[in-house]
Amino acid sequence: MSTPQAIHLSDYRPPAYRVTHTELTFELDPSATRVKARLHLERHPEREAGEALELDGEQLTLKSIALDGQVLGEDEYRLTEQGLRIESVPASFLLDTEVEISPEENTALEGLYRSGGMFCTQCEAEGFRRITFYPDRPDVMATFSTTVVGDAASLPVLLSNGNPVERGELPNGRHFVTWEDPHPKPCYLFALVAGDLNKVEDRFTTMSGRDVTLQIWVEEENLGKTDHAMASLKRAMRWDEETYGREYDLDLFMIVAVNDFNMGAMENKGLNIFNSAAVLTHPDTATDAAFQRVEGIVAHEYFHNWSGNRVTCRDWFQLSLKEGFTVFRDQSFSADVNSAPVKRIEDVSFFRTAQFAEDAGPTAHPVRPDHYIEIGNFYTLTIYEKGAEIVRMLRNLVGWEAFRRGSDLYFSRFDGQAVTIEDFVTCMAEASGQNLDQFMLWYSQAGTPEIDAHGEYDYARAEYRLILRQRTPATPGQSDKQALHIPVRLGLVGTKSGRDLALTLDGESLGRDAVIHLREDEQEFVFTDLAEAPVPSLARGFSAPVKLNFPYSREDLAFLLANDSDGFNRWDAGQRLALLALDDLIAAHRNGVEKVMDNRVVDAFRTLLTSDTDDKAVLAEMLTLPSEAYIAEQQPLVDVDAIHAARQFVKQSLAVTLRDEFLAVYQANLDDVSYAPEPDQIAARSLKNVALSYLMSIEDEEGVALTQRQFEAEHNMTDVRHALTLLTHSSRDDLADPALKAFGQKWAHDPLVMDQWFSIQVSRPQADALERVKFLMDHPAFSLTNPNKVRALIGAFAQNRVNFHRLDGEGYKLLADVVIKLNRLNPEIAARLITPLTRWARYDETRQELMKAELERIRAEDLSPNVYEVVEKALA
Ligand code: PHE
Ligand code: ZN
Repeated sequence: MSTPQAIHLSDYRPPAYRVTHTELTFELDPSATRVKARLHLERHPEREAGEALELDGEQLTLKSIALDGQVLGEDEYRLTEQGLRIESVPASFLLDTEVEISPEENTALEGLYRSGGMFCTQCEAEGFRRITFYPDRPDVMATFSTTVVGDAASLPVLLSNGNPVERGELPNGRHFVTWEDPHPKPCYLFALVAGDLNKVEDRFTTMSGRDVTLQIWVEEENLGKTDHAMASLKRAMRWDEETYGREYDLDLFMIVAVNDFNMGAMENKGLNIFNSAAVLTHPDTATDAAFQRVEGIVAHEYFHNWSGNRVTCRDWFQLSLKEGFTVFRDQSFSADVNSAPVKRIEDVSFFRTAQFAEDAGPTAHPVRPDHYIEIGNFYTLTIYEKGAEIVRMLRNLVGWEAFRRGSDLYFSRFDGQAVTIEDFVTCMAEASGQNLDQFMLWYSQAGTPEIDAHGEYDYARAEYRLILRQRTPATPGQSDKQALHIPVRLGLVGTKSGRDLALTLDGESLGRDAVIHLREDEQEFVFTDLAEAPVPSLARGFSAPVKLNFPYSREDLAFLLANDSDGFNRWDAGQRLALLALDDLIAAHRNGVEKVMDNRVVDAFRTLLTSDTDDKAVLAEMLTLPSEAYIAEQQPLVDVDAIHAARQFVKQSLAVTLRDEFLAVYQANLDDVSYAPEPDQIAARSLKNVALSYLMSIEDEEGVALTQRQFEAEHNMTDVRHALTLLTHSSRDDLADPALKAFGQKWAHDPLVMDQWFSIQVSRPQADALERVKFLMDHPAFSLTNPNKVRALIGAFAQNRVNFHRLDGEGYKLLADVVIKLNRLNPEIAARLITPLTRWARYDETRQELMKAELERIRAEDLSPNVYEVVEKALA
């Protein structure tokens, strides 16, 4: 392959020709599908006459082409690797093409492909060009009319976007359905599904009284697994009406579950296509976490109907326009219908672990990148989650009411258009009257800002002086960073009263919980009239996506853990306290000295365990130690073994000292009620299971017995899976092996459960994890062409910190071998899988060399643009 070229935001031009209406006919066949397209084209008013027509097209065999009904001769158009070019065309014309494609050979899962016996499509970002010749860019928006023709016996169900308008029988056992989508859309939102599918149907009455049919289409064996997705969909539809005033705009809304899918789900207009893992649930097969994930993803895709579909992105550099906003919307929805504090804790824990790592690595990029080689590599935590944090800051800066007015303005002003991030922020600036110029830097500047904070209380003056200094580290291609506008929400907690003190800044009274604005490199804030010395509680609720350093003593942290009025920061104080203790233990492990447990952590845990709380979900979070990945994030150089040993030591020390307290919590939260994925039940289960983790960590008789009993009781997958994980991750194969065997046999028929079975065993800390991966790659339930399997087995292993980073390099080698195979089969998945290797700079020299050697080995292959881009950055 030739060296892939970068595309730059600064080169954006509107398309020379746009499509006003698209007519498609598919004659489905596994190896030779025919696609006829009739495009109604016209010159773009901003472009000059006489320009050539260029259409994107990849892996298409052109069968015929005609312009305004005239068949084109071979000298009247040109075919290239990337598409088709016609030198001269009129200002407005019809173009008819017919191409042949082979869905069954499509293992990249972009364009039209087969998943089991069905046909389905994935067009975002640039998959439509593998279906037909087209201006495959989001600023070309057309109405679509699609006829799907297929074998009536094997493909009884034929779906596409919009509403079905005609259906009928055809000769040779074939039939057809014609679909019309009246809303102009970019081709990345096109979808087609055909197969032997069953539907579950429901109805929803919109706020203006329109009746909408809701359908979830699944394979027959999954008919019992759709209830939760349907209930979630209805909740999401109501929520978007009540919260954002957004109503659904077609008579039919469909969700289809497919087994082979690169991502979580896709918001195709009226026909969302879901990875089956993101839609199917049943108490026996899915955990609480999976139920909540499904609820969030169903909502996310539904919310895209406005934030993404009605108003879409002008170009792919604006991806966060739809993704950041929609993630913010789905996070808010999940917070509203579940426990809001826990949702925030979960989102921030994940963000600080994974997005911070991305921002600190070789693939760091701004929320709006200014160039890329392969857009498929930019569906990242930065675009999605940091983008959502930026929208959250905007909401907090302008306040909900102005934010809602800005959102209304955005949806009405740009309805049916493809727009930019400026367009969105401008609406917020107009609606609020605020100047957001400096704020825009959040979109263009990569890297995680760090704030170094210091504070001093002056008894004589009753003043607290808070000094904040910000800096953003250099990232690839961006060495100079400017000061950002960082909203810092804070309280000053009085050390005597344990209460938030009244805040007075520059003579202005701000209440007891306020936002201060850091806009310069360094700023001083002097709070006056403070009768007692405070401990500052900073960046409450994670008010900005930054690292905030403050020289807290352990006493300060224990104090905040006990007294902070902000639940999020109370949790964070506990995490910081644990991290300080872990730091000491990591050092002790490295120096070979005896590890000593910090009593302040033990005391804090005892208080938590014995205090009366009505928020069990938050308590469960507070009792959870920072993950190994998050601890690693805090270390200058990652020592995987020391981190594992230190964390295990803390866990076991707590378990030994507080055994009775954990036991009491476990027993108090055992329940026999019938399973429901509801906040109270979920909270009790998570608290119980956290307690069980501690009890099992010391592997005493009682811990083992409780865990086995929970495993065997088979109450629900949450409890079973947790127990299985504890047994499998214990030091005793005599516990692990029989449990794994029983579980594997029981669920051999259920691919989504087998995915969990794969992940659990390859993430065990015992030394045989790698051998297990190799062995399981030959298991009948594994397949390299199914992304869920690859993630469950290979992806999960690459998160197994002690074993992936084995000093013999075998973990790295295994990953590289898989990447090399997937580079041909599925470049998008291959490129994602490399991520852990790109983080080599965080490890010791030996591991660095081993990781780089594997990246070099990948680089020597004939690479897809996806893998090429990631590997080049990683080795730059
Ligand atoms: N747009 C999808 C979403 O976030 C994600 C996706 C991207 C799915 C690319 C498939 C391919 O909701
Ligand atoms: Zn999305």
